[in-house]
Amino acid sequence: MKTIIEPFRIKAVEPIRMTTRDERRVLLKDAQYNLFALKSDDVLIDLLTDSGTGAMSAAQWAAVMQGDESYAGSPSFYRFEAAVKNLMPFRHVIPTHQGRAAEAILFSILGGAGKNIPSNTHFDTTRGNIEASGAHGHDLVIAEGKDPASDHPFKGNMDLDRLDAYLQEHGDSVPCVMLTITNNAGGGQPVSLENIRGTAALAKKYGKPFFIDGCRFAENAWFIKTREAGQGDRSIPEIVRDCFADADGMTMSAKKDAFGNIGGWLALNDDDLADEARTHLIRTEGFPTYGGLSGRDLDALAQGLSEIVDEDYLRYRIRTNAYIIERLDALGVPVVKPAGGHAVFVDARAWLSHIPPTAYPGQALAVALYELGGIRSCEIGTVMFGRQPDGSEVPAAMDLVRLAIPRRTYTQSHADYMIEVFEELAAIKDTLTGFTITKEPKQLRHFTCAFSPL
Ligand code: F0G
Repeated sequence: MKTIIEPFRIKAVEPIRMTTRDERRVLLKDAQYNLFALKSDDVLIDLLTDSGTGAMSAAQWAAVMQGDESYAGSPSFYRFEAAVKNLMPFRHVIPTHQGRAAEAILFSILGGAGKNIPSNTHFDTTRGNIEASGAHGHDLVIAEGKDPASDHPFKGNMDLDRLDAYLQEHGDSVPCVMLTITNNAGGGQPVSLENIRGTAALAKKYGKPFFIDGCRFAENAWFIKTREAGQGDRSIPEIVRDCFADADGMTMSAKKDAFGNIGGWLALNDDDLADEARTHLIRTEGFPTYGGLSGRDLDALAQGLSEIVDEDYLRYRIRTNAYIIERLDALGVPVVKPAGGHAVFVDARAWLSHIPPTAYPGQALAVALYELGGIRSCEIGTVMFGRQPDGSEVPAAMDLVRLAIPRRTYTQSHADYMIEVFEELAAIKDTLTGFTITKEPKQLRHFTCAFSPL
């Protein structure tokens, strides 16, 4: 059969409240054209993020009932720890309420003024935590990773030559090397096993600990299995274990590839570092056998980790994304290719070329997708990155719109509907106008700023 079906049936449903285009026009105006200000009840298809928005399985809900809420030593923690160690055999597994809490703990210990921390591309919260400690983060992804049209199979790879030069140049000021799999900020693009090993080898050569941000490790493993020579016959758990074998630790948002609605962890091999991290954890998150989570969350994650490495799931997951990208490509919508793991990235600057970056073509597209089709997406461009610390405004490197696909949540007819919305939009796209920002906070303006159409 050609059709790759959703490998699940639906046992519980959440109704979607239908809205009309006229209603959505009013809602947009009330939200001052910031999609973060919309009520989610007013959204038909919510593609703002794939984080925490996935559907849990019947087995996960059953596991929730097994949750033990003891403050210390809960069996839920030991089930969670065993599930993590089964895939990522680190000595210490420290639960946190989400990924950024793990980052905050790690960089409060390893960061600090004058330090320099390289990665393929730091995710925003990772960079935020590095910078909050006084350190600098640097992105050393390969050149193809920044070219939306390049069809390199592993566009998330670290540029190993640049990393080598970086480690030589920055010497003692580098406390660790990071690598994000998949590379979210670069379009959900994967990193090859060869490149993970190459990054680990360079870190070792310079005596630096190597940490993986593993949020989308299972999607990354699927790409390794299907795109990397010699990996096709290997199981996903085997590939995952190899990915983490040479690392000294990891940060994780369990809201992605652990099928959680909340959760995360910091895993480490170094005993002293783990002691320090646990002390910090007790101060900010909770006792080390629950972190910021309830016992039932830990049990849901333990079960989720056994489901996320299922090949039928991963085949369907990656195919959904590729299907949407192929169809949009055929419509002439410029999309980041090849398909990444968790999201479709549309090159709004190229598609709405009549709107200059300073009038936010990504925002114009995101607003139009909502008005026309009730789809909520996220601008990743000049609104998000344009405001400089000195107050000036500089166009971002790209003006993209991200349509992040929640896990096991929407069906193929939702995907077909999305494609239809783009088809209708293609006919009127040249009539869309840009935006100006009328009010913005000092930092992270995209979450709360107000817009007015030009
Ligand atoms: N690292 C990566 C690569 C991420 O994509 C995220 C979250 C985090 C760390 C932080 O994890 O949200 O649990 O604190 N990404 C979400 C997104 C928010 O929409 O891409 P968190």
